[in-house]
Amino acid sequence: MQKAKVIIDKDFQVSKIDRRIYGSFIEHLGRAVYGGIYQPGHPLADEQGFRKDTLELVRELNVPIVRYPGGNFVSGYKWEDGVGPKEDRPKRIDLAWCVVESNEVGLNEFSDWAKKANTDVMMAVNLGTRGVAEAMELLEYCNLDQGTHYSELRKKHGYAKPHGVKLWCLGNEMDGPWQIGHKTADEYGRLANETAKVLKGIDPSIELVVCGSSNSGMPTFAEWERTVLEHCYDSVDYISMHTYYGDHDRDPQTFLANNMDMDRFITDVANICDYVKAKKHSKKTINISFDEWNVWYHSNEADSKLERWTQAPHQLEDVYDFQDALLVGSLLITLLRHADRVKVACLAQLVNVIAPIMTSDTGAWRQTIYYPYWLTGKYGQGVVLQTQVSSPTYANKKFGDVPYVDCVTVYNEEKDELVVFAVNKSLEEEIELEIPLRQFAGYHVVEHAKMQDEDLYAVNTEENPERIKPVASDASSVEDGTLKTVLGHKSWNMIRLSK
Ligand code: AHR
Repeated sequence: MQKAKVIIDKDFQVSKIDRRIYGSFIEHLGRAVYGGIYQPGHPLADEQGFRKDTLELVRELNVPIVRYPGGNFVSGYKWEDGVGPKEDRPKRIDLAWCVVESNEVGLNEFSDWAKKANTDVMMAVNLGTRGVAEAMELLEYCNLDQGTHYSELRKKHGYAKPHGVKLWCLGNEMDGPWQIGHKTADEYGRLANETAKVLKGIDPSIELVVCGSSNSGMPTFAEWERTVLEHCYDSVDYISMHTYYGDHDRDPQTFLANNMDMDRFITDVANICDYVKAKKHSKKTINISFDEWNVWYHSNEADSKLERWTQAPHQLEDVYDFQDALLVGSLLITLLRHADRVKVACLAQLVNVIAPIMTSDTGAWRQTIYYPYWLTGKYGQGVVLQTQVSSPTYANKKFGDVPYVDCVTVYNEEKDELVVFAVNKSLEEEIELEIPLRQFAGYHVVEHAKMQDEDLYAVNTEENPERIKPVASDASSVEDGTLKTVLGHKSWNMIRLSK
């Protein structure tokens, strides 16, 4: 059997994990809002029309923060359309997704939903068709207590207390030619800076995310980040990163290696931030908000055939298979390995639209990717340890030598728990993994949860919602102060150890 080894030390730490690294995203898109979180008249809808079955699953995920209302949608959105009496709200065309938006749900309803879901809102402002003034008005409406036009308007709309939104995105993917109101890096950098200055003037307690590149393959990548940050380094806190992966060629070994792209992308963006920091002789560090990441490709063909100008169509409804869960597990490992720079991350998205949760008129269920997201968020709390992995590799045309074993370890001091997350990408072979426990000697295995299946393309459906889910494994034990485990071929693993 092939062998891998991991070296850790309690004192060699990457960073404390910011819980917001397990965030998610809900856009006014497809059936995310309408038919996903909100469906008045549904047997499981509450008094406000929110689906209780969806809420239950979101609460189980314990999502710390949800980005809203877009995405591409936000770049053509007028937030005022979604507040005030519902009967007065206009139906508008949404040019981003070629649909009709009813505006039945707006920021007040979404804030109510977020409270019910035990999560915080991360709000995006429209810097596509709109600018500084509308962003100021939106912040005033959301966060100022009283005595000004927009804070009083919110109160008139039935929301006496401010929403207190703490994290704000300065537009969305402004580097993308598909974006409504797409801009050059200089145009956007200036606008972002001017907007950031006044937003912080209104509420100095907020944090701001400026748009980075839409993915690492963008022709403007790197130069975009540098230019934008040179404009607004002093006025923002985070730069955004987005990425989606797909397996159009049915090539699992390449698909499963995509974590290497994410890893490289994060390192590059952190380096650019630090270049601008050095150039500006600044003491401030800009961190990363990886506020869109996931697998997205299964629904591409169906979406290309959609009729235009319908309401809440089945759009971007990827049905995730087992190999997607393996990659999502691996991408979470990558985000954790960069916990010193990645402080916010949003699995895009949360319900129905490229999402871990799916709903129909008759039920809600967990997609395959739900599980690594759920368990990593639940047990990946505390401090990330430097995790030195020696693993056999496979040769891949796109990524070169790819380690079969991808791994990170997390130490939760509060619970006195050491947690190992590991993926074995070998399609055929089990791999024996050893981790000398050093300062964790005396710990024993509390749980080994594993996701493994012979069929990479198996999916969960409403009829068979638990086809893919984690099971308990007895493959781990501690012998002579070393954790010894066997990682099944094609498997995601979480091993918890405690005193
Ligand atoms: O999440 C789906 C879309 O992907 C978002 O609207 C956009 O920001 C990205 O291109």
